[in-house]
Amino acid sequence: MKLDIVILLYIVVTFVSGQRNDHQDPIPSDVYNQSKVCVVQDSHHQHEYYGYVPPCPDSEDNAPCVCTYDIDSEDNTMDLDCSAVESQEQVKQILKADFPFKNFGQFDLTYNYNNITVLESGVFNGVSFEIINIYYTDLEVVELKALNSWYETATKLNLFNNKITSFPFDELSQFSKLRYFSISGNSLGMVPADAFHGLTALEYLGVSDNYANFVGTFQDLPNLRDIDMFSNALTTVSANFIKTGSSYLMHIDLSGNNIVSVEPGAFDIVEGLEINMYGNSLSTLEEATWRPHLEAGGTLFAAYNPLICGCDIAWLFGEDQLLEQIGNYTTCNDGENLHDLDPSIFDPC
Ligand SMILES: *[C@@H]1O[C@H](CO)[C@@H](O)[C@H](O)[C@H]1NC(C)=O
Ligand SMILES: *[C@@H]1O[C@H](CO)[C@@H](O)[C@H](O)[C@H]1NC(C)=O
Ligand SMILES: *[C@@H]1O[C@H](CO)[C@@H](O)[C@H](O)[C@H]1NC(C)=O
Repeated sequence: MKLDIVILLYIVVTFVSGQRNDHQDPIPSDVYNQSKVCVVQDSHHQHEYYGYVPPCPDSEDNAPCVCTYDIDSEDNTMDLDCSAVESQEQVKQILKADFPFKNFGQFDLTYNYNNITVLESGVFNGVSFEIINIYYTDLEVVELKALNSWYETATKLNLFNNKITSFPFDELSQFSKLRYFSISGNSLGMVPADAFHGLTALEYLGVSDNYANFVGTFQDLPNLRDIDMFSNALTTVSANFIKTGSSYLMHIDLSGNNIVSVEPGAFDIVEGLEINMYGNSLSTLEEATWRPHLEAGGTLFAAYNPLICGCDIAWLFGEDQLLEQIGNYTTCNDGENLHDLDPSIFDPC
């Protein structure tokens, strides 16, 4: 520990006096690595003496959370890893600590099975973060306003593989910088798609593996690239279901639902868009629904569906060869691969 303090002090001195110079003083890389860990402990006085206030409070004030900061960063951004907390009350207490700065980067609460089932309103005590990782926990309920201090800062909300049954979706539209949102692997039961309207920065949306139904439509998401909705309980996909208006949309994953029909106009038409419909209950690929997607250069993966390969899929075997954009493993319900069918069988159609 003494060595740490000496090293830290050395860095502080070179940092403050602006004399870090690779030619004169080559600092071994492991020293740089140590500079990213907040082990201020007893060195408070020394920091003050050199006019440097460490952004993290004394570590005994935030244990068992671990506060780290990058001494090289100009804005004193701190990360707080609270994965070892035993209760929500502990999180509250720690966030009441006196942080000399309020610029937080990342908050972590991961692989924590200490029965923290509720995030209460106000738990974060007005402290804001940019990246929030809460995954592999017992969390079930996120109360209204529990996350309100993040509205204007959060770029990434990573909430996968918890046990969430209740989430304040109505507040989502206030997350103005949100680029990444995942609530996959929870127990939502119902996802109100309309709550995402107008998240103009959103690039990734993950709501897979919730066995959920969806109410409403995903619209006005002009930067969306990727939407994961596999392993849910959708049975029909209605017109305008995913009409984000994004020309960057490259991937829609609806595999592993129980989809029996997809209405025309359900999806954005974007060149190169991949739509994954693996493992649903489609008995046909309707021309009105899929032709515009394929003609625009999209692909459709439809393996593991009980497709009846009759006249209603003859349109795929026309001169425009749209079949080439259907996934290579797509089979009819008798097991025969679509790509192996003799096109002449459709002549009588
Ligand atoms: C320093 O950190 C980098 C990246 O985190 C790692 O690749 C490297 O091995 C570390 N160096 C030492 C000496 O620990
Ligand atoms: C969490 O709650 C479950 C069921 O109530 C109990 O079996 C388990 O021991 C608890 N775990 C902890 C770490 O408190
Ligand atoms: C089918 O396989 C061929 C050859 O590997 C590949 O070029 C083509 O892109 C595949 N088609 C689709 C729709 O994935």
